[in-house]
Amino acid sequence: MILNHRTCEKPLPLDGIIVEIGFGKGDFLIDVAKEYPKKQIVGFEISGISIEKARSRLKKEGIKNVVIVQMDAYWGFHFLLREESVERIYMNFPDPWFKKRHFKRRLTSTRNLRMFARKLKHEGYVRVVTDYFPFAQYTLESAHQTGLFGTDLKRITKPDTVTKYALKALEGGREIYEIILTRLKKPRQKETSVKEVSSLFPQKFSRKPVLKEVINRKFKVNEKVFLKTGNIIGNQDHALLECLLSEEGFVQKFFIEIRKKGNDYLIDISPYSEVIRTVNIQSVIEILAERIFKP
Ligand SMILES: C[S@@+](CC[C@H](N)C(=O)[O-])C[C@H]1O[C@@H](n2cnc3c(N)ncnc32)[C@H](O)[C@@H]1O
Repeated sequence: MILNHRTCEKPLPLDGIIVEIGFGKGDFLIDVAKEYPKKQIVGFEISGISIEKARSRLKKEGIKNVVIVQMDAYWGFHFLLREESVERIYMNFPDPWFKKRHFKRRLTSTRNLRMFARKLKHEGYVRVVTDYFPFAQYTLESAHQTGLFGTDLKRITKPDTVTKYALKALEGGREIYEIILTRLKKPRQKETSVKEVSSLFPQKFSRKPVLKEVINRKFKVNEKVFLKTGNIIGNQDHALLECLLSEEGFVQKFFIEIRKKGNDYLIDISPYSEVIRTVNIQSVIEILAERIFKP
């Protein structure tokens, strides 16, 4: 089943779960689901093509204990998973991001590992399989830096499930490494302040809107949160403004609606824009209202 992370109950009411990050075509996800039919498996993947391939394979195999979510794993863990609810996290051949300036995108960055440690149960673990030794080294160093994990690294001849990238490694004659990070401590501080709110509040004005004030602009919501607006569709009585909000790197696209209601004007998120309703989206409504309805 594909889970819509914008509209689902958060956090998910799950405990004792197994997570795979970056499942690709879903080979490993299917094997693990069959091996543990009584466990709930959650898969995070950012590629829409992979999501579709895995979805159709899960359906064909009649697998019911897997939910897949199209979402960056860091944010998936933050919004969807309960603290200390995860038994195991699997990453098979995560993107190596070879260039130094891209290291922060690696799935085993200290930021990600701290997030995973918060959601893992005590002595739960992360298992990473890679064919790129510098990535294995980086992972061990990140884990040591967090001070939250016990670590173990070994060479394996062949993973139990030969995924697409495992096959590439085997065919290319590359060595394969398995890293186990066992969670020993929970981080003291939360990783991010991005929070969901139960509802968003529209703003009401009796003045006429001045829409040109907000077209193709950039706004700083706070130190880590930025809003970029695009074009406006419609007219003064009913308009939709394109918005892209980046909250500490969590990006959401949506429309803000400005419409006439009786003698007043309302500004709100469009009812057709599915978003995770964060505190910063409320701030966006307020910032845009201030510009559009300036006295
Ligand atoms: C090199 S592929 C490996 C695919 C599969 N595990 C295999 O072994 O064949 C890495 C996968 O991780 C996914 N991915 C990369 N970064 C991610 C993230 N932050 N969250 C979720 N998935 C991610 C990519 O879309 C890609 O499908």
